[in-house]
Amino acid sequence: MTLKNQHVLTASQFSEADLAAVFMYADAMQKRPDTRGLLAGRTLACVFYEPSTRTSSSFIAAMTKLGGGVIPITQGVQFSSVSKGETLEDTITTLGQYADAIVLRHPETGAVARAAAVSPVPVINAGDGIGEHPSQALLDLYTIKQETGRTENLKVAFVGDLAHGRTVHSLIRLLNRYPGNEFHLISPWLLRLDRTGGDSPLYEEVRGKVAQTYHVKAGLQEAIGAIEQADVVYMTRVQKERFIDAEGYAEVKDSCLLNPELVSCMKPSARILHPLPRVNEIPTVIDADPRAAYFRQVRAGLHVRMALLSLVLGV
Ligand code: NCD
Repeated sequence: MTLKNQHVLTASQFSEADLAAVFMYADAMQKRPDTRGLLAGRTLACVFYEPSTRTSSSFIAAMTKLGGGVIPITQGVQFSSVSKGETLEDTITTLGQYADAIVLRHPETGAVARAAAVSPVPVINAGDGIGEHPSQALLDLYTIKQETGRTENLKVAFVGDLAHGRTVHSLIRLLNRYPGNEFHLISPWLLRLDRTGGDSPLYEEVRGKVAQTYHVKAGLQEAIGAIEQADVVYMTRVQKERFIDAEGYAEVKDSCLLNPELVSCMKPSARILHPLPRVNEIPTVIDADPRAAYFRQVRAGLHVRMALLSLVLGV
């Protein structure tokens, strides 16, 4: 398996064989009654320099269910030697002496790759600033496959903070590989995907599959054409913590809110996904709609992360 002993840094690195293996293992993890022997005696360090609920706890739950142990540095690095001025490189080199793999979240784009460069063990990117979040993309794609039955010929509406949303940056790269997929990009102008530049001109990579771009001003109804046609509506939170000014955030924070009326225009077979946490972009009244798949997506995250850990740690 090509994932064995590999760092997991970007969604672009997965071969088709890797994706097939992750999905096959995730299916198996769901069905297997006893997974506790699979990674017995192995240790995972979970190091989070940014807040997390789902990513950290699902990696911890996944490792535990596989029989392994966890070094959790998830309660704030203020309790680790980082608060004494230790560099990321030294922290990672140290943890690599105890752990068989490291899951790392960091506020700087590229920091996880920097960590991987010095790490003696595989490093899994659990979100690097506005860069990528590849394990989330795996679980998002797995959920899409489970919910719609396919990974190709999908019309996918990406909604919200496309500039800062690292889950979007990874998922769109994965979906870009499959034939017939078509992207509808819905955001305020300030949060458009083609603002994501730097070393990784993501928009250029995926533009061949961009069917339509909406720069909404007053609300999501301006993009009703895309909502009506979509097989998947991928909602995201406006990433308040990435703004340098409160005014900029205030201007766009309510620009892409879903409501029951918009959902009633969606196809019955369509699905709403969200990496979570949500703020106000999906009112809770929508949760009972069978098209709301975001909590099933959370559940899938456990099985996909069990699969990923098994493959990287080489069961
Ligand atoms: C996301 C993240 O951290 O990038 N959450 C997650 O991992 N499920 C999305 C977000 O914070 O908005």
